[in-house]
Amino acid sequence: MNIDVASYQPPADQTAWLGTDPIPAKAYYDPDYYELERQAIFMRTWLTIGHVCELLEPGSFIRRDLEFAKASILIVRGKDGVIRGFHNACTHRGTQLEGRGEGKANAFICPYHRWNFGLDGALRSAPDFERFYTTKENCALKPVSVDVCGGMIFVNLDPEPAQSLHEFLGEYIVERLETIPAAKATDFCEYTYEIDANWKLTYDNFQESYHLKFIHPRTGAASYTPENPFGYPENYGFHGVHRSQQFWPNYNPDVTTPVQQTVFPMLAGYATEKGLMPDPTNREYYAVFPGFFIFGSPTQHFSHVVYPISATRSRGVIRLYWVGDWETASDRFAREYCLAIAREVHVEDVNVIKAGQRGLNSGALEHIHFQALEGLCRHLYLVSNGIVEAYKAEQEAAGEAQ
Ligand code: FES
Ligand SMILES: [Fe+2]
Repeated sequence: MNIDVASYQPPADQTAWLGTDPIPAKAYYDPDYYELERQAIFMRTWLTIGHVCELLEPGSFIRRDLEFAKASILIVRGKDGVIRGFHNACTHRGTQLEGRGEGKANAFICPYHRWNFGLDGALRSAPDFERFYTTKENCALKPVSVDVCGGMIFVNLDPEPAQSLHEFLGEYIVERLETIPAAKATDFCEYTYEIDANWKLTYDNFQESYHLKFIHPRTGAASYTPENPFGYPENYGFHGVHRSQQFWPNYNPDVTTPVQQTVFPMLAGYATEKGLMPDPTNREYYAVFPGFFIFGSPTQHFSHVVYPISATRSRGVIRLYWVGDWETASDRFAREYCLAIAREVHVEDVNVIKAGQRGLNSGALEHIHFQALEGLCRHLYLVSNGIVEAYKAEQEAAGEAQ
């Protein structure tokens, strides 16, 4: 997918269909609007929560706390190999069963009165259960919908999701997630952060390259060239509620450091050698609604997911996925180096995102603006707001029917 750099034109025409209206600023700070998003989107949409390489053996589990839902979720691989999800809440009187973030278990035993739940969520035994006025069948752990695509584990807090995971992702995203190297990941590096910023404001920062030359003049300098001084992408893709973009070739030798000139070809060579990528020049980025994106690049299998905590606070999880063991010291260095630069770049972003939120919180701005090459940000707002509007109509219709 090599492009003719000299004749490059930014793909502004590809976002024209999204319109040009200014965007209501309230959508980025208002607690009432956030509450609608929480109900309409986060409580009933498939959300990325982990990777199958975390659940290799029967009994492996991960715990994930989703603050927006006040929920703690256990994702478990059962003895039958099936991955299931449950609320981390004992059905006796609600006590959280697992305090560990991950581990292995034969059963989940409540620390309070020792109710014992199997990996399939069934209540297996409970002391003096004869004195209760219920049955064990009634006391199974509350299930959460779980499915996997391209190694990524998704959950849906709706007990009966309107769409299957594959219907939600659509053919293009499913095919891409199943093809990129992260689908075969056996390991990852991770860091998480909390930020005083709205989830869309946070996420949008990573959907546009307009800020690169101002905020990352040193760390991002390889992302833009004289032909494309803002490092705009080669093209965009819109796939229902999801998005993609093909990044500008990130190899300006004048500003790439000697370490990068060693590490990136080494990682690309590794990916080619292991047959991880049909196309080793892939630079595509996949944005999976609402708050997840992942690079298809063979050099950095970078993913980022942003979860809301409140209207103006969010939690982000950044992961670099890796395939195969860390065979040599050079492999290890290359991977650690990639995480180190990801952190370095991210630190530069965090302060401007927080400053943006502080400016919005005053309510002084009625609108914000997206230019043509911030089309992915505009798309996220339009999709989210469309779902919020549909939810409001649904609630009104339900109210009238009563
Ligand atoms: S609350 Fe779990 S056994 Fe009592
Ligand atoms: Fe940035």
